[in-house]
Amino acid sequence: MSDGPAPTITWKGGLDGRCELIDQTLLPSEVVILDVKDVETMWDAIKRLAIRGAPAIGVAAAYGVVLGIRRSGAADEAGFGVDLNKTCDYLASSRPTAVNLFWALDRMKAHASTLTGGGVERIKQGLLDEARAIEAQDRAICHKLGEIGAALVEDGDGLLTHCNAGALATAEYGTALAVMFESQAQGKKISVYAGETRPLLQGARLTTWELMHAGIDVTLICDSMAAQVMKEGRVQRVFVGADRVARNGDACNKIGTYSLAVLAKEHEIPFYVVAPCSTIDLQTSTGEQIPIEERPSEEITEGFGKRTAPEGAKVYSPAFDVTPAAYLSGIVTEKGLISPVTEDEVVRVVTP
Ligand code: MRU
Repeated sequence: MSDGPAPTITWKGGLDGRCELIDQTLLPSEVVILDVKDVETMWDAIKRLAIRGAPAIGVAAAYGVVLGIRRSGAADEAGFGVDLNKTCDYLASSRPTAVNLFWALDRMKAHASTLTGGGVERIKQGLLDEARAIEAQDRAICHKLGEIGAALVEDGDGLLTHCNAGALATAEYGTALAVMFESQAQGKKISVYAGETRPLLQGARLTTWELMHAGIDVTLICDSMAAQVMKEGRVQRVFVGADRVARNGDACNKIGTYSLAVLAKEHEIPFYVVAPCSTIDLQTSTGEQIPIEERPSEEITEGFGKRTAPEGAKVYSPAFDVTPAAYLSGIVTEKGLISPVTEDEVVRVVTP
């Protein structure tokens, strides 16, 4: 879905308008556009993964701020500031791991503080403009990630990816999948293996859907098949996205990514993370400090309405894991490739 049936997320109208997003819980069977008109609905959409993927969550948070503050009845800017902080704190409680959520909320607050002195209505309008700018910048950044990442791909490569780091996870084009879209646009012949990504099947439901839509040769595998597929020589490079990269380069992504990185090292296959700088959290020194979301047990025991484990089965469901920097061949950012992945290189590439 490099240019799919509708934008993953966008704003329609002025300050009294609405946010439109594709309900990703219904894909691939149905393409349903959700009209989000209040901050509670946006919080819920993020929580239940109707909108998901780190950069897309950042865009959703920014529009969530607009939805929350546009109904503020504060008479002055001080009162408005209180409402803005409350809205941001509320949205920050939706999901803990993807740092783009917090990055976007901080950016919205910082922008509001540049608008003081002109009245509450001016700040409200300015926040909508800023949310739109976050969306537009994400589109441009993803195309840049694709260009930089495609330089790492050789004609004829077999590529492996995990979860969904495509157009659906961003405003447009994706991160890891942008590398594939761009490689194809450059005329390189690639074949992609997509891990299904238990338990919520973002790989099966979303990545195969996007790649098939773009006419890229994609083969779906169960997560547990990766070792065999690598051993058979079908994979020359792995590209995944990230939800948060720590200052030392440790990369947190969808559960199952770490095991793929260990397998890639064993099979001497280069392993790349593709992520915008908004996913790199210089305040978090190592992956140990990244909060890992735990998801409800029902997503494993009765996913998609079908019971697959005995009633009462004990479950542990971390939604993300951390791949230590030592397993990464590089991190593709819009500012260039971080390689080797060390703290010095992360800071050097990311810092303006
Ligand atoms: O739980 P999800 O679907 O939000 O997890 C998404 C991922 O782990 C993606 O790989 C990551 O956000 C990168 S998206 C460009």
